[in-house]
Amino acid sequence: MDYNRILVTAALPYANGPVHIGHMAGVYVPADIYVRYQRQQKRDVQFVCGSDEHGVPITIRAMKEGVTPQQIVDKYHAIIKESFEQMGISFDIYSRTSNKLHHETAAGFFKKLYDDGLFEEKETEQYYDEKAKTFLADRYIVGTCPVCANANAYGDQCEKCGSTLSPEQLINPRSALSDAVPVKKKTKHWYFPLQNYEAWLKEWIIDGHKDWKNNVYGQCKSWLDSGLQSRAMTRDSNWGIKVPLPEAEGKVLYVWFDAPIGYISATKELTGKWADYWCKEDTKLVHFIGKDNIVFHCIIFPAMLRAHGNFVLPDNVPANEFLNIEGDKVSTSRNWAVWVDQYLKDFPGSEDVLRYVLCANAPETKDNDFTWKDFQDRNNNELASIFGNFVNRTWVLMHKLCGGKVPRLHEDILDDDDKWIIDEIKKSKVNIENLIEEYKFRDSLYEVIDLSRKGNQYMQKKEPWIKAKKMTDDGPGSKAAQKEVDNCLHLCLQLTANLAILANPFLPHTAKKMLHMMKVVDKMLDWENAGKIKLLSVGYSLRAPELLFKKIEDDEIRTQIEKLKSGLTKKEEAKMEPAKTGAENQHSDTNKPEIVYDDFAKLDLRVGTVITCKKVEKADKLLKLTIDLGAETRTIVSGIALHYNSSEMIGKQVVVVVNLAPRKMKGIESQGMILTAEDKDGKLRLLKPEEAVIPGSSVS
Ligand code: MF3
Ligand code: ZN
Repeated sequence: MDYNRILVTAALPYANGPVHIGHMAGVYVPADIYVRYQRQQKRDVQFVCGSDEHGVPITIRAMKEGVTPQQIVDKYHAIIKESFEQMGISFDIYSRTSNKLHHETAAGFFKKLYDDGLFEEKETEQYYDEKAKTFLADRYIVGTCPVCANANAYGDQCEKCGSTLSPEQLINPRSALSDAVPVKKKTKHWYFPLQNYEAWLKEWIIDGHKDWKNNVYGQCKSWLDSGLQSRAMTRDSNWGIKVPLPEAEGKVLYVWFDAPIGYISATKELTGKWADYWCKEDTKLVHFIGKDNIVFHCIIFPAMLRAHGNFVLPDNVPANEFLNIEGDKVSTSRNWAVWVDQYLKDFPGSEDVLRYVLCANAPETKDNDFTWKDFQDRNNNELASIFGNFVNRTWVLMHKLCGGKVPRLHEDILDDDDKWIIDEIKKSKVNIENLIEEYKFRDSLYEVIDLSRKGNQYMQKKEPWIKAKKMTDDGPGSKAAQKEVDNCLHLCLQLTANLAILANPFLPHTAKKMLHMMKVVDKMLDWENAGKIKLLSVGYSLRAPELLFKKIEDDEIRTQIEKLKSGLTKKEEAKMEPAKTGAENQHSDTNKPEIVYDDFAKLDLRVGTVITCKKVEKADKLLKLTIDLGAETRTIVSGIALHYNSSEMIGKQVVVVVNLAPRKMKGIESQGMILTAEDKDGKLRLLKPEEAVIPGSSVS
């Protein structure tokens, strides 16, 4: 099938917490790579996403925090949107499902299926919390596990022994919201008879989509083999899209009914030509999702689209598996996660490093592991030492040996090595393109780095710095040497231009810096330019090199590992709360276990006065301070440089933990720690005594 336009969707993240790197690796980074590549191919492509703002967990969370669901989603929608922007995820639209247009679209969709008589109406008995006045999903009923006697088992599962449960099996069931004993109450809902679409789905997927990834195809097959059943498409709740029927007071659409329709509403919001993308046969629709979303995108949503009629179906659903962290499953309730908004604060300017590591390690065929050590190694040994180093060497030598201009290519002396590198450039383009089209992003990224590795190899072989020595001789060899140096650097420069094009889908911020160094416009990134060696014209003068990647130090990695582990202390409390996401844990510290006074008394806290303060070189976040503590002065390295400049620190009083074991940061020994608190915008503010005290005063 020849397609004339491409519509790419990325799963709508729930707006009940920030996004973590597992989301990025599984969904958003691959989707963005695909879209950027398509744009470079000059294809008609739209990239839509938005926040998924309905569903029970959001209402429960709001209830617990004593705010409205709208306040919850407003907060996280803003945080998530900002994280995506900073990471360079280039949506054409990032919408939200609380929008009016979406409510109308989803309600209209439901109404059409209803009017066509496609729903089954069923009355069932469900658990109800009379205190909280709400029906309870199984997850929100807790009680004692009949298998292992764990007192905090959930109505769907016991996390201690792993048994699958139903609420009836729990001993002493109670509501997780109010502690009330749940009672059964009758309620009516509208069910979508998936079994009616089973035969068609089998034909469409099992026979028709053998091209889908094994993990996706396999999951669909096992669902279809075990037989489909009717599924309720409405819920009792007052948060969500009202069921558009007069008799449906207090009922809303099931979140998994409304959310995928969000792709349609977002496209409507984006372009008046939305129907081209959704209804014309020659559209290629691609859903990027994580593996927990497969059934919704491959079975339920397609069946809904088919029932409605007039919509295209996905051509592919390249779902990824999960990314574990340091050998352990991501758990938002235990705060075992790396949050993107936090990462961006801790590593400003290193968005591409995260994109790189997540793609190089993407869980494309099986679950994969993210470790901070691997993050550091890949940055230092691949991005900095191979890619960055090649570009930097090229630039430095071109400025030194060719007067900062693109030297000529002397065709008459092209040798086998020159021909080899020209050929490699051409081959890489074809390989990368084919791999991206097949959704093999890891392998395609590997090709990019490999091409820069070959660039280094080529330069090493040519040794322009050795030939340059001959250039200064007066002899006849001098001219010939200059020609060879010209050829080497000419080709290295053309290779750099190619690398910018080929790396752009993966490392857009880096490609942008490279364009700046080359003084060329975005247009050069057009995919058709890749593979060519005439991208930079002879004689064109180029800017000074910019540092593309800097090394990441051990202590930065240590800090991250400590940060990750410290989240675990909140485990016990978090366990009690069903479906809680980690955002809360991340931002407030009320969850640490209780301590006795003696634990507190172990800390030696003192007030000191800052005497000197300097920024630590090559560290964006660190200040080096000397602090007068009365009896002694100490050197302390503190990660507050983004929040205070060094001059304003001098003379300030600060609270210091003086008996913390010393640590080296950037080669400086830090003999203590300064206390700060985070304000609502994430800015660190110093803790200090209300009025000045004598340096060295102890804090108790
Ligand atoms: N919010 C869901 C999740 O995070 C994904 C919704 S995808 C959509 O798992 F298709 F429903 F939008
Ligand atoms: Zn159990």
